[in-house]
Amino acid sequence: MTDQTPALRLEGIVKTFPGVRALDGVSFTVMPGEVHALMGENGAGKSTLMKVLGGILAPNEGQIFIEEQPTIMSSPMNAKAKGVVFIHQELSLADELSVAENIWLGELPKKSFGRVDWTKLYDETDAILKTLNVGFDARKRVGDLSIANQQMVEIARALTVEPRAVIFDEPTASLTDAEKVVLFEVISDLQSRGVGVIYISHRMEEIFKITDRISVLRDGQYRGTLNTAETNEEEVTHLMIGRTLDLSRNAVTHEMGEVALEVRSLSCGDLFSDVSFTVRRGEVVGFYGLVGAGRTEIAETLFGLREPSSGTIHLGGEEVTINSPADAIKRGISLVPEDRKGQGLILGMNCRDNMTLPQVSDLTAGPFVSDGAEVAIFDQYRDKLDIRTPGWRQTVGNLSGGNQQKIVIGKWLSMRPEVLIVDEPTRGIDVGSKSEIHNLIRELASQGYAVIVISSEMPEVLHVSDRIVAMFSGRVMREFTAEEVTEDSLIQAISGIGADKVA
Ligand SMILES: Nc1ncnc2c1ncn2[C@@H]1O[C@H](COP(=O)(O)OP(=O)(O)OP(=O)(O)O)[C@@H](O)[C@H]1O
Ligand SMILES: [Mg+2]
Repeated sequence: MTDQTPALRLEGIVKTFPGVRALDGVSFTVMPGEVHALMGENGAGKSTLMKVLGGILAPNEGQIFIEEQPTIMSSPMNAKAKGVVFIHQELSLADELSVAENIWLGELPKKSFGRVDWTKLYDETDAILKTLNVGFDARKRVGDLSIANQQMVEIARALTVEPRAVIFDEPTASLTDAEKVVLFEVISDLQSRGVGVIYISHRMEEIFKITDRISVLRDGQYRGTLNTAETNEEEVTHLMIGRTLDLSRNAVTHEMGEVALEVRSLSCGDLFSDVSFTVRRGEVVGFYGLVGAGRTEIAETLFGLREPSSGTIHLGGEEVTINSPADAIKRGISLVPEDRKGQGLILGMNCRDNMTLPQVSDLTAGPFVSDGAEVAIFDQYRDKLDIRTPGWRQTVGNLSGGNQQKIVIGKWLSMRPEVLIVDEPTRGIDVGSKSEIHNLIRELASQGYAVIVISSEMPEVLHVSDRIVAMFSGRVMREFTAEEVTEDSLIQAISGIGADKVA
Protein backbone atom coordinates (compact mmCIF):
# COMPACT_ATOMS: atom_id res chain seq x y z
CA MET A 1 0.00 0.00 0.00
CA THR A 2 2.93 2.31 0.73
CA ASP A 3 4.07 3.09 -2.81
CA GLN A 4 0.57 3.96 -3.98
CA THR A 5 -0.62 7.55 -4.21
CA PRO A 6 -3.32 8.26 -1.62
CA ALA A 7 -6.74 8.99 -3.08
CA LEU A 8 -7.15 11.63 -0.45
CA ARG A 9 -5.10 13.13 2.30
CA LEU A 10 -5.99 15.56 5.06
CA GLU A 11 -3.19 17.27 6.89
CA GLY A 12 -3.16 19.29 10.11
CA ILE A 13 -6.88 20.00 10.09
CA VAL A 14 -8.06 22.37 12.82
CA LYS A 15 -11.73 23.16 13.32
CA THR A 16 -13.09 25.16 16.21
CA PHE A 17 -16.63 26.02 17.28
CA PRO A 18 -17.41 28.51 20.03
CA GLY A 19 -16.01 26.90 23.17
CA VAL A 20 -14.96 23.67 21.39
CA ARG A 21 -11.77 22.67 19.60
CA ALA A 22 -13.44 19.88 17.62
CA LEU A 23 -10.36 19.05 15.53
CA ASP A 24 -6.88 19.76 16.73
CA GLY A 25 -4.44 19.23 13.86
CA VAL A 26 -5.79 15.96 12.46
CA SER A 27 -4.17 14.10 9.56
CA PHE A 28 -5.87 11.25 7.74
CA THR A 29 -5.15 9.34 4.54
CA VAL A 30 -7.41 7.25 2.31
CA MET A 31 -5.94 4.85 -0.24
CA PRO A 32 -7.82 3.86 -3.40
CA GLY A 33 -9.75 0.64 -2.88
CA GLU A 34 -9.46 0.48 0.89
CA VAL A 35 -12.16 0.53 3.53
CA HIS A 36 -10.84 2.81 6.22
CA ALA A 37 -12.62 2.96 9.57
CA LEU A 38 -12.73 6.19 11.52
CA MET A 39 -13.32 5.53 15.19
CA GLY A 40 -13.50 7.50 18.41
CA GLU A 41 -15.77 8.27 21.31
CA ASN A 42 -18.92 10.34 20.95
CA GLY A 43 -17.80 13.88 20.29
CA ALA A 44 -14.26 12.88 19.26
CA GLY A 45 -14.62 14.77 15.97
CA LYS A 46 -15.34 12.07 13.39
CA SER A 47 -18.35 13.70 11.75
CA THR A 48 -16.67 17.09 11.86
CA LEU A 49 -13.56 15.76 10.08
CA MET A 50 -15.73 14.23 7.38
CA LYS A 51 -17.74 17.43 7.01
CA VAL A 52 -14.47 19.24 6.33
CA LEU A 53 -13.57 16.64 3.72
CA GLY A 54 -17.06 16.80 2.23
CA GLY A 55 -17.04 20.57 1.79
CA ILE A 56 -19.72 21.16 4.43
CA LEU A 57 -17.43 22.89 6.92
CA ALA A 58 -14.41 25.05 6.15
CA PRO A 59 -11.41 24.21 8.36
CA ASN A 60 -9.65 26.94 10.35
CA GLU A 61 -6.31 25.43 9.42
CA GLY A 62 -4.96 22.52 7.41
CA GLN A 63 -4.89 21.25 3.89
CA ILE A 64 -6.70 18.68 1.76
CA PHE A 65 -4.95 16.82 -1.07
CA ILE A 66 -6.48 14.83 -3.91
CA GLU A 67 -3.88 12.46 -5.31
CA GLU A 68 -1.32 14.69 -3.60
CA GLN A 69 -2.58 17.86 -5.32
CA PRO A 70 -3.68 20.52 -2.82
CA THR A 71 -7.33 21.42 -3.16
CA ILE A 72 -10.13 23.31 -1.45
CA MET A 73 -13.57 21.81 -0.95
CA SER A 74 -15.68 24.93 -1.20
CA SER A 75 -19.11 23.27 -0.91
CA PRO A 76 -20.73 19.81 -0.89
CA MET A 77 -21.39 20.19 -4.63
CA ASN A 78 -17.77 21.09 -5.21
CA ALA A 79 -16.56 18.12 -3.17
CA LYS A 80 -18.88 15.84 -5.10
CA ALA A 81 -17.58 17.19 -8.40
CA LYS A 82 -14.12 16.24 -7.12
CA GLY A 83 -15.36 12.74 -6.37
CA VAL A 84 -15.96 12.95 -2.62
CA VAL A 85 -19.45 11.97 -1.54
CA PHE A 86 -20.95 11.83 1.88
CA ILE A 87 -23.66 9.48 3.16
CA HIS A 88 -24.82 11.29 6.27
CA GLN A 89 -25.31 10.13 9.84
CA GLU A 90 -28.72 11.78 9.77
CA LEU A 91 -30.32 11.27 6.38
CA SER A 92 -31.07 14.46 4.55
CA LEU A 93 -33.66 13.62 1.93
CA ALA A 94 -36.83 15.47 0.95
CA ASP A 95 -39.75 13.18 1.85
CA GLU A 96 -42.21 14.74 -0.58
CA LEU A 97 -40.03 14.31 -3.64
CA SER A 98 -39.49 11.23 -5.77
CA VAL A 99 -36.40 9.08 -5.59
CA ALA A 100 -35.17 10.52 -8.90
CA GLU A 101 -35.68 14.12 -7.84
CA ASN A 102 -33.82 13.52 -4.59
CA ILE A 103 -30.92 11.94 -6.40
CA TRP A 104 -30.51 14.72 -8.94
CA LEU A 105 -31.62 17.64 -6.79
CA GLY A 106 -29.95 20.82 -7.98
CA GLU A 107 -28.73 19.14 -11.16
CA LEU A 108 -31.89 17.85 -12.84
CA PRO A 109 -31.31 17.09 -16.54
CA LYS A 110 -32.83 19.83 -18.69
CA LYS A 111 -34.25 19.94 -22.21
CA SER A 112 -34.20 23.08 -24.30
CA PHE A 113 -36.14 26.01 -22.79
CA GLY A 114 -34.99 24.79 -19.36
CA ARG A 115 -37.68 22.19 -18.93
CA VAL A 116 -36.82 19.11 -16.91
CA ASP A 117 -36.23 16.05 -19.05
CA TRP A 118 -38.30 13.62 -17.01
CA THR A 119 -37.75 10.61 -19.27
CA LYS A 120 -34.02 11.00 -19.03
CA LEU A 121 -34.25 11.62 -15.29
CA TYR A 122 -36.20 8.44 -14.60
CA ASP A 123 -34.18 6.30 -17.02
CA GLU A 124 -30.82 7.33 -15.61
CA THR A 125 -32.07 6.90 -12.07
CA ASP A 126 -33.45 3.44 -12.76
CA ALA A 127 -30.12 2.46 -14.30
CA ILE A 128 -28.31 3.40 -11.08
CA LEU A 129 -30.94 1.74 -8.88
CA LYS A 130 -30.53 -1.43 -10.90
CA THR A 131 -26.84 -1.65 -10.04
CA LEU A 132 -27.82 -1.45 -6.38
CA ASN A 133 -30.42 -4.20 -6.69
CA VAL A 134 -33.09 -2.30 -4.80
CA GLY A 135 -36.78 -3.17 -4.92
CA PHE A 136 -38.16 0.28 -5.76
CA ASP A 137 -38.05 2.58 -8.77
CA ALA A 138 -37.19 6.17 -9.62
CA ARG A 139 -40.75 7.48 -9.29
CA LYS A 140 -41.30 6.30 -5.72
CA ARG A 141 -41.92 9.00 -3.10
CA VAL A 142 -38.97 9.00 -0.70
CA GLY A 143 -41.16 9.46 2.38
CA ASP A 144 -42.77 6.08 1.66
CA LEU A 145 -39.47 4.19 1.77
CA SER A 146 -38.00 2.42 4.80
CA ILE A 147 -34.92 3.96 6.43
CA ALA A 148 -32.75 1.33 4.77
CA ASN A 149 -34.13 2.14 1.36
CA GLN A 150 -33.75 5.87 1.99
CA GLN A 151 -30.13 5.12 2.67
CA MET A 152 -29.95 3.33 -0.66
CA VAL A 153 -31.23 6.56 -2.24
CA GLU A 154 -28.38 8.46 -0.59
CA ILE A 155 -25.97 5.86 -1.92
CA ALA A 156 -27.51 6.12 -5.39
CA ARG A 157 -27.01 9.87 -5.18
CA ALA A 158 -23.34 9.24 -4.49
CA LEU A 159 -23.10 7.09 -7.59
CA THR A 160 -24.21 9.79 -10.02
CA VAL A 161 -20.54 10.71 -10.20
CA GLU A 162 -17.54 8.37 -10.52
CA PRO A 163 -16.63 8.65 -6.86
CA ARG A 164 -13.05 8.73 -5.65
CA ALA A 165 -14.07 8.34 -2.03
CA VAL A 166 -17.37 7.63 -0.30
CA ILE A 167 -17.93 8.51 3.35
CA PHE A 168 -20.40 6.46 5.36
CA ASP A 169 -21.20 8.07 8.72
CA GLU A 170 -22.76 5.41 10.99
CA PRO A 171 -24.74 3.85 8.16
CA THR A 172 -25.96 0.77 10.01
CA ALA A 173 -27.40 2.45 13.10
CA SER A 174 -30.97 1.71 12.05
CA LEU A 175 -30.56 -1.18 9.64
CA THR A 176 -31.69 -4.77 10.11
CA ASP A 177 -29.17 -7.58 9.64
CA ALA A 178 -30.47 -8.34 6.15
CA GLU A 179 -30.19 -4.70 5.13
CA LYS A 180 -26.64 -4.59 6.47
CA VAL A 181 -25.69 -7.47 4.18
CA VAL A 182 -26.86 -5.43 1.18
CA LEU A 183 -24.94 -2.38 2.38
CA PHE A 184 -21.75 -4.38 2.85
CA GLU A 185 -22.10 -5.71 -0.68
CA VAL A 186 -22.35 -2.17 -2.00
CA ILE A 187 -19.24 -1.23 -0.03
CA SER A 188 -17.29 -4.21 -1.27
CA ASP A 189 -18.32 -3.38 -4.82
CA LEU A 190 -17.11 0.22 -4.44
CA GLN A 191 -13.87 -1.11 -3.04
CA SER A 192 -13.29 -3.43 -5.96
CA ARG A 193 -13.75 -0.47 -8.31
CA GLY A 194 -10.87 1.29 -6.58
CA VAL A 195 -12.99 3.73 -4.59
CA GLY A 196 -11.70 4.64 -1.13
CA VAL A 197 -14.38 4.03 1.49
CA ILE A 198 -14.39 5.83 4.84
CA TYR A 199 -16.54 4.02 7.34
CA ILE A 200 -17.62 5.49 10.69
CA SER A 201 -19.20 3.12 13.19
CA HIS A 202 -19.17 2.26 16.88
CA ARG A 203 -19.80 -1.41 16.16
CA MET A 204 -16.62 -3.39 16.53
CA GLU A 205 -17.91 -6.56 14.81
CA GLU A 206 -18.59 -4.55 11.66
CA ILE A 207 -15.29 -2.76 11.79
CA PHE A 208 -13.41 -6.03 12.02
CA LYS A 209 -15.51 -7.60 9.30
CA ILE A 210 -15.29 -5.03 6.54
CA THR A 211 -12.39 -2.64 7.08
CA ASP A 212 -8.72 -2.75 6.09
CA ARG A 213 -7.41 -0.02 8.39
CA ILE A 214 -8.66 1.78 11.48
CA SER A 215 -7.81 5.37 12.38
CA VAL A 216 -8.68 6.68 15.81
CA LEU A 217 -9.54 10.17 17.04
CA ARG A 218 -9.68 11.20 20.66
CA ASP A 219 -10.83 14.63 21.83
CA GLY A 220 -10.23 16.07 18.39
CA GLN A 221 -6.74 14.62 18.10
CA TYR A 222 -5.38 11.94 15.81
CA ARG A 223 -4.29 8.90 17.84
CA GLY A 224 -3.00 6.55 15.19
CA THR A 225 -3.84 4.09 12.44
CA LEU A 226 -3.88 0.30 12.77
CA ASN A 227 -4.12 -2.48 10.21
CA THR A 228 -7.37 -4.26 11.02
CA ALA A 229 -5.87 -7.71 10.45
CA GLU A 230 -3.10 -7.03 12.94
CA THR A 231 -5.08 -5.55 15.82
CA ASN A 232 -7.97 -6.41 18.13
CA GLU A 233 -10.88 -4.77 19.93
CA GLU A 234 -8.90 -4.18 23.09
CA GLU A 235 -6.16 -2.28 21.33
CA VAL A 236 -8.62 -0.14 19.41
CA THR A 237 -10.66 0.59 22.54
CA HIS A 238 -7.54 1.54 24.42
CA LEU A 239 -6.56 3.96 21.69
CA MET A 240 -10.08 5.43 21.68
CA ILE A 241 -10.61 5.96 25.38
CA GLY A 242 -7.15 5.72 26.88
CA ARG A 243 -7.99 2.85 29.21
CA THR A 244 -9.07 -0.78 29.10
CA LEU A 245 -12.69 -1.68 29.69
CA ASP A 246 -13.95 -4.41 31.94
CA LEU A 247 -16.64 -5.91 29.76
CA SER A 248 -17.54 -8.73 32.12
CA ARG A 249 -21.04 -8.79 33.47
CA ASN A 250 -21.60 -6.38 36.29
CA ALA A 251 -22.17 -8.80 39.16
CA VAL A 252 -24.38 -6.62 41.29
CA THR A 253 -25.99 -8.70 43.98
CA HIS A 254 -29.15 -6.95 44.93
CA GLU A 255 -32.46 -7.86 46.45
CA MET A 256 -35.42 -8.20 44.18
CA GLY A 257 -38.42 -6.41 45.60
CA GLU A 258 -42.11 -6.85 44.95
CA VAL A 259 -43.61 -6.89 41.48
CA ALA A 260 -43.68 -3.32 40.18
CA LEU A 261 -45.25 -4.00 36.79
CA GLU A 262 -47.36 -6.89 35.64
CA VAL A 263 -48.77 -7.28 32.16
CA ARG A 264 -51.46 -9.92 31.55
CA SER A 265 -52.43 -11.16 28.09
CA LEU A 266 -51.88 -7.76 26.57
CA SER A 267 -52.69 -7.43 22.86
CA CYS A 268 -52.68 -4.52 20.46
CA GLY A 269 -54.29 -5.18 17.09
CA ASP A 270 -51.92 -7.26 14.99
CA LEU A 271 -48.82 -5.61 16.49
CA PHE A 272 -48.53 -8.02 19.41
CA SER A 273 -50.80 -10.45 21.15
CA ASP A 274 -51.23 -12.28 24.42
CA VAL A 275 -48.12 -10.80 26.00
CA SER A 276 -47.65 -11.51 29.72
CA PHE A 277 -44.66 -10.72 31.93
CA THR A 278 -43.69 -9.17 35.25
CA VAL A 279 -40.90 -6.84 36.32
CA ARG A 280 -39.86 -6.63 39.96
CA ARG A 281 -38.29 -3.71 41.69
CA GLY A 282 -34.56 -4.17 41.43
CA GLU A 283 -34.83 -6.22 38.27
CA VAL A 284 -33.70 -5.62 34.70
CA VAL A 285 -35.82 -7.46 32.15
CA GLY A 286 -34.40 -7.51 28.63
CA PHE A 287 -36.65 -7.75 25.58
CA TYR A 288 -34.82 -9.35 22.70
CA GLY A 289 -36.08 -10.02 19.20
CA LEU A 290 -35.71 -9.02 15.60
CA VAL A 291 -36.75 -5.61 14.34
CA GLY A 292 -40.53 -5.82 13.98
CA ALA A 293 -41.05 -8.39 16.75
CA GLY A 294 -43.36 -5.96 18.57
CA ARG A 295 -41.09 -4.87 21.41
CA THR A 296 -41.25 -1.12 20.76
CA GLU A 297 -45.02 -1.34 20.38
CA ILE A 298 -45.33 -2.96 23.83
CA ALA A 299 -43.25 -0.14 25.30
CA GLU A 300 -45.42 2.44 23.55
CA THR A 301 -48.56 0.80 24.92
CA LEU A 302 -47.18 0.88 28.46
CA PHE A 303 -46.33 4.54 27.97
CA GLY A 304 -49.85 5.46 26.85
CA LEU A 305 -48.99 6.03 23.19
CA ARG A 306 -51.09 3.08 21.98
CA GLU A 307 -54.35 1.69 23.23
CA PRO A 308 -54.35 -2.05 23.97
CA SER A 309 -57.11 -4.06 22.32
CA SER A 310 -57.27 -6.49 25.24
CA GLY A 311 -55.43 -7.51 28.39
CA THR A 312 -54.51 -5.63 31.54
CA ILE A 313 -51.64 -3.64 33.05
CA HIS A 314 -50.97 -3.66 36.80
CA LEU A 315 -48.73 -1.29 38.70
CA GLY A 316 -47.85 -2.17 42.28
CA GLY A 317 -50.61 -4.80 42.22
CA GLU A 318 -53.33 -2.41 41.06
CA GLU A 319 -54.91 -2.54 37.62
CA VAL A 320 -54.44 0.71 35.74
CA THR A 321 -55.48 2.30 32.46
CA ILE A 322 -52.82 4.44 30.85
CA ASN A 323 -54.33 6.91 28.45
CA SER A 324 -51.44 9.17 27.60
CA PRO A 325 -47.74 9.71 28.24
CA ALA A 326 -48.67 12.30 30.87
CA ASP A 327 -50.65 9.58 32.59
CA ALA A 328 -47.73 7.17 32.35
CA ILE A 329 -45.31 9.72 33.79
CA LYS A 330 -47.68 10.49 36.67
CA ARG A 331 -47.81 6.79 37.48
CA GLY A 332 -44.04 6.49 37.43
CA ILE A 333 -43.37 5.03 33.98
CA SER A 334 -40.67 6.59 31.80
CA LEU A 335 -39.80 5.64 28.24
CA VAL A 336 -36.49 6.46 26.60
CA PRO A 337 -37.58 6.19 22.98
CA GLU A 338 -35.80 4.47 20.15
CA ASP A 339 -35.94 7.44 17.80
CA ARG A 340 -34.27 10.31 19.63
CA LYS A 341 -34.75 12.80 16.81
CA GLY A 342 -38.49 12.26 16.48
CA GLN A 343 -39.55 11.72 20.05
CA GLY A 344 -36.81 12.55 22.45
CA LEU A 345 -35.24 15.90 21.69
CA ILE A 346 -35.93 19.41 20.52
CA LEU A 347 -32.78 20.09 18.54
CA GLY A 348 -33.03 23.87 18.55
CA MET A 349 -33.30 24.05 22.33
CA ASN A 350 -30.42 24.07 24.80
CA CYS A 351 -29.16 21.05 26.73
CA ARG A 352 -30.60 21.99 30.08
CA ASP A 353 -34.10 22.67 28.81
CA ASN A 354 -34.14 19.44 26.83
CA MET A 355 -33.20 17.49 29.89
CA THR A 356 -35.63 19.12 32.28
CA LEU A 357 -38.52 19.56 29.86
CA PRO A 358 -40.88 16.86 31.18
CA GLN A 359 -40.64 18.05 34.76
CA VAL A 360 -40.80 21.80 34.38
CA SER A 361 -44.18 21.80 36.13
CA ASP A 362 -42.68 20.18 39.26
CA LEU A 363 -39.88 22.70 39.47
CA THR A 364 -42.06 25.70 38.87
CA ALA A 365 -42.63 27.66 42.02
CA GLY A 366 -45.36 30.12 41.21
CA PRO A 367 -44.77 31.85 37.89
CA PHE A 368 -40.99 31.34 38.02
CA VAL A 369 -39.26 28.27 36.77
CA SER A 370 -36.39 27.61 39.12
CA ASP A 371 -33.37 28.08 36.89
CA GLY A 372 -30.94 26.98 39.56
CA ALA A 373 -32.74 23.69 40.18
CA GLU A 374 -32.76 22.93 36.48
CA VAL A 375 -29.08 23.65 36.07
CA ALA A 376 -28.36 21.44 39.09
CA ILE A 377 -30.25 18.56 37.49
CA PHE A 378 -28.41 19.09 34.25
CA ASP A 379 -25.02 19.18 35.98
CA GLN A 380 -25.77 16.03 37.94
CA TYR A 381 -26.62 13.99 34.84
CA ARG A 382 -23.91 15.53 32.74
CA ASP A 383 -21.38 14.21 35.27
CA LYS A 384 -23.12 10.89 35.73
CA LEU A 385 -23.37 10.20 32.00
CA ASP A 386 -20.21 12.06 30.98
CA ILE A 387 -21.99 14.28 28.50
CA ARG A 388 -19.46 16.26 26.44
CA THR A 389 -20.64 19.82 26.03
CA PRO A 390 -19.13 23.19 26.92
CA GLY A 391 -22.17 23.95 29.10
CA TRP A 392 -25.92 23.74 29.52
CA ARG A 393 -26.49 26.65 27.13
CA GLN A 394 -25.25 24.64 24.14
CA THR A 395 -27.95 23.87 21.56
CA VAL A 396 -28.60 20.12 21.53
CA GLY A 397 -28.42 20.02 17.74
CA ASN A 398 -24.73 20.94 18.03
CA LEU A 399 -23.85 17.95 20.21
CA SER A 400 -22.41 14.82 18.66
CA GLY A 401 -24.90 12.02 18.01
CA GLY A 402 -23.99 9.97 21.04
CA ASN A 403 -24.07 12.92 23.39
CA GLN A 404 -27.57 13.74 22.16
CA GLN A 405 -28.60 10.22 23.15
CA LYS A 406 -27.18 10.77 26.61
CA ILE A 407 -29.27 13.92 27.02
CA VAL A 408 -32.39 11.85 26.30
CA ILE A 409 -31.40 9.22 28.84
CA GLY A 410 -30.59 11.90 31.41
CA LYS A 411 -33.97 13.49 30.82
CA TRP A 412 -35.87 10.33 31.71
CA LEU A 413 -33.58 9.31 34.54
CA SER A 414 -33.99 12.69 36.14
CA MET A 415 -37.71 11.95 36.53
CA ARG A 416 -36.72 9.20 38.96
CA PRO A 417 -39.31 6.77 37.60
CA GLU A 418 -40.37 3.50 39.26
CA VAL A 419 -40.52 1.70 35.95
CA LEU A 420 -37.97 2.77 33.38
CA ILE A 421 -38.23 1.48 29.82
CA VAL A 422 -35.27 2.05 27.55
CA ASP A 423 -35.57 1.25 23.86
CA GLU A 424 -32.20 0.64 22.15
CA PRO A 425 -30.38 2.65 24.84
CA THR A 426 -26.94 2.57 23.27
CA ARG A 427 -27.63 2.94 19.57
CA GLY A 428 -24.90 5.19 18.19
CA ILE A 429 -23.06 5.23 21.53
CA ASP A 430 -19.32 4.58 21.73
CA VAL A 431 -17.93 1.57 23.63
CA GLY A 432 -16.79 3.52 26.65
CA SER A 433 -20.11 5.30 27.19
CA LYS A 434 -21.92 2.11 26.35
CA SER A 435 -20.44 0.31 29.29
CA GLU A 436 -21.17 3.37 31.45
CA ILE A 437 -24.80 3.23 30.40
CA HIS A 438 -24.94 -0.51 31.08
CA ASN A 439 -23.51 0.02 34.54
CA LEU A 440 -25.96 2.82 35.09
CA ILE A 441 -28.87 0.53 34.17
CA ARG A 442 -27.62 -2.09 36.64
CA GLU A 443 -27.13 0.56 39.27
CA LEU A 444 -30.64 1.93 38.81
CA ALA A 445 -32.01 -1.56 39.33
CA SER A 446 -29.98 -1.96 42.50
CA GLN A 447 -31.57 1.26 43.73
CA GLY A 448 -34.97 -0.37 43.40
CA TYR A 449 -36.11 0.73 39.96
CA ALA A 450 -37.84 -1.80 37.73
CA VAL A 451 -36.12 -1.59 34.35
CA ILE A 452 -37.08 -2.88 30.91
CA VAL A 453 -34.35 -2.84 28.27
CA ILE A 454 -35.28 -3.37 24.64
CA SER A 455 -32.31 -4.13 22.46
CA SER A 456 -31.41 -5.75 19.16
CA GLU A 457 -27.85 -6.33 20.31
CA MET A 458 -27.45 -9.70 21.90
CA PRO A 459 -24.33 -8.84 23.95
CA GLU A 460 -26.19 -5.90 25.42
CA VAL A 461 -29.21 -7.96 26.46
CA LEU A 462 -27.01 -10.68 27.91
CA HIS A 463 -24.93 -8.13 29.74
CA VAL A 464 -27.60 -6.13 31.53
CA SER A 465 -30.59 -8.44 32.06
CA ASP A 466 -31.64 -10.52 35.05
CA ARG A 467 -34.30 -12.06 32.88
CA ILE A 468 -34.77 -12.08 29.11
CA VAL A 469 -38.08 -12.15 27.25
CA ALA A 470 -37.58 -13.45 23.71
CA MET A 471 -40.12 -12.24 21.16
CA PHE A 472 -40.99 -13.25 17.64
CA SER A 473 -43.67 -11.72 15.46
CA GLY A 474 -45.67 -10.07 18.24
CA ARG A 475 -45.52 -12.99 20.64
CA VAL A 476 -43.49 -13.95 23.66
CA MET A 477 -41.68 -17.12 22.65
CA ARG A 478 -39.75 -17.83 25.82
CA GLU A 479 -38.46 -16.35 29.01
CA PHE A 480 -34.94 -17.03 30.26
CA THR A 481 -33.17 -16.28 33.50
CA ALA A 482 -29.65 -14.85 33.22
CA GLU A 483 -28.28 -18.14 34.56
CA GLU A 484 -29.97 -20.43 32.06
CA VAL A 485 -29.78 -18.36 28.87
CA THR A 486 -27.37 -19.31 26.08
CA GLU A 487 -26.78 -17.52 22.81
CA ASP A 488 -28.06 -20.48 20.84
CA SER A 489 -31.30 -20.85 22.74
CA LEU A 490 -31.90 -17.12 22.42
CA ILE A 491 -31.33 -17.11 18.66
CA GLN A 492 -33.68 -20.06 18.30
CA ALA A 493 -36.39 -18.36 20.30
CA ILE A 494 -36.33 -15.09 18.38
CA SER A 495 -36.25 -16.67 14.95
CA GLY A 496 -39.58 -18.34 15.59
CA ILE A 497 -38.30 -21.90 15.66
CA GLY A 498 -41.05 -23.85 17.39
CA ALA A 499 -43.47 -20.93 16.98
CA ASP A 500 -46.30 -23.21 15.91
CA LYS A 501 -46.16 -24.96 19.27
CA VAL A 502 -46.76 -21.72 21.11
CA ALA A 503 -49.38 -20.24 18.81
N1 LIG B 1 -22.06 23.12 14.67
C1 LIG B 1 -21.44 22.93 15.85
N2 LIG B 1 -21.42 23.88 16.78
C2 LIG B 1 -20.79 23.69 17.97
N3 LIG B 1 -20.15 22.56 18.32
C3 LIG B 1 -20.13 21.57 17.42
C4 LIG B 1 -20.79 21.67 16.15
N4 LIG B 1 -20.60 20.52 15.46
C5 LIG B 1 -19.87 19.72 16.29
N5 LIG B 1 -19.59 20.34 17.46
C6 LIG B 1 -18.79 19.78 18.58
O1 LIG B 1 -17.60 19.24 18.04
C7 LIG B 1 -17.23 18.04 18.72
C8 LIG B 1 -17.07 16.91 17.73
O2 LIG B 1 -18.36 16.53 17.25
P1 LIG B 1 -18.60 15.41 16.16
O3 LIG B 1 -20.03 15.48 15.76
O4 LIG B 1 -17.57 15.54 15.09
O5 LIG B 1 -18.33 14.08 17.00
P2 LIG B 1 -18.38 12.55 16.52
O6 LIG B 1 -17.02 11.99 16.71
O7 LIG B 1 -18.97 12.46 15.18
O8 LIG B 1 -19.34 11.90 17.64
P3 LIG B 1 -20.53 10.77 17.54
O9 LIG B 1 -19.88 9.45 17.64
O10 LIG B 1 -21.33 11.03 18.78
O11 LIG B 1 -21.29 11.01 16.28
C9 LIG B 1 -18.30 17.81 19.76
O12 LIG B 1 -17.85 18.35 20.99
C10 LIG B 1 -19.48 18.61 19.25
O13 LIG B 1 -20.32 19.02 20.31
MG1 LIG C 1 -20.83 11.69 14.43
